[in-house]
Amino acid sequence: MAASFEEAKVTVPAVLAAKRARKLAMVTAYDYTFARLADKAGADLLLVGDSLGMVVQGCDNTLSVTMDEMVYHTRMVARGRTRALVVGDMPFLSYQVSVNEAVANAGRFIKEGGAEAVKLEGGVHVADTVRRLCDFDIPVMGHIGLTPQSVHRMGGHKVQGRRPGREAGGRERLFEDALALEAAGAFAIVIEGVPADLAAQITRRLGIPTIGIGAGAACDGQVLVMHDLLGLEERIAPKFVKRYAELGHAAVDAIGQYVSEVREGAFPAKEHSFSSPRPVSRVKEA
Ligand code: KIV
Repeated sequence: MAASFEEAKVTVPAVLAAKRARKLAMVTAYDYTFARLADKAGADLLLVGDSLGMVVQGCDNTLSVTMDEMVYHTRMVARGRTRALVVGDMPFLSYQVSVNEAVANAGRFIKEGGAEAVKLEGGVHVADTVRRLCDFDIPVMGHIGLTPQSVHRMGGHKVQGRRPGREAGGRERLFEDALALEAAGAFAIVIEGVPADLAAQITRRLGIPTIGIGAGAACDGQVLVMHDLLGLEERIAPKFVKRYAELGHAAVDAIGQYVSEVREGAFPAKEHSFSSPRPVSRVKEA
C-alpha cells in the first residue's frame, strides 16, 4: 500500500498535487536541531529563509545575508530532515545580477546545501530567471507581496496590494506577478503581507499552490518563521504571527536556574559527577 501524504517523503510533484487537496504547512529552519524538530512535528516544507539575517544574525533586514551563509545553514537543515522538502532562499543579489549567476547560485543550494528547491523574490521581472532555473530542473518557489529584499523601495516591511495599479506593490501588479511566475514554471508561490481577499483571488486563479504569510486563510498553505511561532523572537511581531509557545521565556528561566545553582554550588550534584572505578591511592597534595 502506498504511504499516505503525511508519511511519504514530500517532493515537488507532491506539493503541486496538494493544490485543492490539502493544506501545506511550511516553517523556516536554520539548523539541524530545529529542522529535526519541525520534520518530526510533520512540517511539509522547511524553508531555509534569508530571515536568518534577522532572527539568527540579529540584523535589521535580510539584505546582508550571503550565499555562503545560506549554503552553510541549508546543509545543516538538510541533515535534520527525513520527510520535509527543503527549500533554500536565494539571498539579495544572488539572482538579480545575471541569469547565469542565478543558475550557478541556485545550483549551490542543491549541490552543496542538499536543498530540493530554491525560493526567490519578485514576479514579472524575475520570470526569465525562473524559467531558466526550471529549464535546468531546479524547482523554484516564487515570493510576491511584501518581499523583504525590497525593504528600501517599500519604505519598511509594509503590507502590499492595498492600492490598485500596475506599479510595484499594486493589486493588478501582484496578480501579474503571480501569473508570470506560474507561466515561468514555479511550483508554488509564497504570498506575504497582502490583504486576504487579494491572496484568495490569486489562489483561486493559479494552478499551483500559494503559501501565505500574513495573507489570510484562503492560501493553499501557510508559512511562519520558526522563532516567531516558538516565541523565541523578542522583536515586536507583525500582526500575522501566532506564537504557539513561549520558549524564549522558558529558556531564560532554565538558564537562570542553572546560573543560580552554579553560584550556590548546587550544581553539579553527585549524580552529575564521575567516581573512580575502584579506590585509588590518594594523589599526593603539594
Ligand atoms: O526568509 C523567510 O523566512 C521568508 C519567509 C518569511 C517566507 O521568506
